Amino acid sequence: MHNSSPTDPSAASNARSAAPGPPSQGHAHAKAILFGEHAVVYGAPALAVPLHGLGAQADVRLTPGRETRIDSQLFAGSAQAAPQHMGPVVAGLYAALEATGVETDEVQVCIRSAIPHSRGLGSSAAVATAIARAVAVLRGKILDHDALHAVVAKAESVAHGRPSGIDAWAVATQVPIRFQSGRATAIDVGRRLIFVVADSGQQGSTAEAVAGVRELRAAQPKHVEAAISRLAELTEDAVDDVRSGDLAALGSRMLHAHKLLTSIGVSSPALDALVEAALAAGAHGAKLTGGGLGGCVLALADSDEQAEHLALALRAAGAPHTWTTEVSTT
Ligand code: MEV
Repeated sequence: MHNSSPTDPSAASNARSAAPGPPSQGHAHAKAILFGEHAVVYGAPALAVPLHGLGAQADVRLTPGRETRIDSQLFAGSAQAAPQHMGPVVAGLYAALEATGVETDEVQVCIRSAIPHSRGLGSSAAVATAIARAVAVLRGKILDHDALHAVVAKAESVAHGRPSGIDAWAVATQVPIRFQSGRATAIDVGRRLIFVVADSGQQGSTAEAVAGVRELRAAQPKHVEAAISRLAELTEDAVDDVRSGDLAALGSRMLHAHKLLTSIGVSSPALDALVEAALAAGAHGAKLTGGGLGGCVLALADSDEQAEHLALALRAAGAPHTWTTEVSTT
């Protein structure tokens, strides 16, 4: 089962160590919240779509007798010595090992992710999901939805404090979901949706944004509660729009949601400028997506051609990256 690795000096120098086993792989994708971010933290519904083109992959292999190691674009080295920003990855790894009954925590994890981090696209949840899936494969175990989300929730609580749990579902599900209070349901899609995601180039801290809303809610409860209620209504109406394929209605609700999110302090001048640029270029609607205070804007296009035009307009307006993604009909 184990390949011998005569060229590996650590194997020769450590009597306890055996050659690493073959890797097991896990994958997950990015997500975009279409409606309901922040409101979902207070029990309101939210709607999220998968971003299939942006993926994370984890390769995990047993390395008996060696220290647990993480290799990624952000850090390479011993899990024990991982810096604070790797906290969610380390927490997700140990939670996955525990959940699958791996007797040893001596593993090597290689992470490759195309999902930009701190951009509201679910990077930390996707990486934790990919790791959990790879660890499950390694052990020949199946993690059901609840077990998977329990693992990812541990990683997410290190990343964001008290997450609603939507990211854990959205990065692991192939279809749009309506999420509320820990439960997700698939939504039928009546007409193909084409979105352009534009990076503001600024990192957003979800933890900071969530804390900011919490403080504002304590200081101005009526204002924030009204915004949350309105965001909840928009989400429910948007679920109907997605089902019926009413792009014009969906787009105008996106703009309304962006204004409400601005009113609770989670937008930024860069995000507002990208929303304006998308509208000027003919998008049905646009809004920030995810935690905000940096991160990305999501714009709804009418066609593939218009999506190309939107992407160019958004880049001209300052977005260093754009990604076009579609949600197929069901
Ligand atoms: C983060 O993707 C979405 C937020 O609503 C936080 C959460 O739901 O935990 C801002």
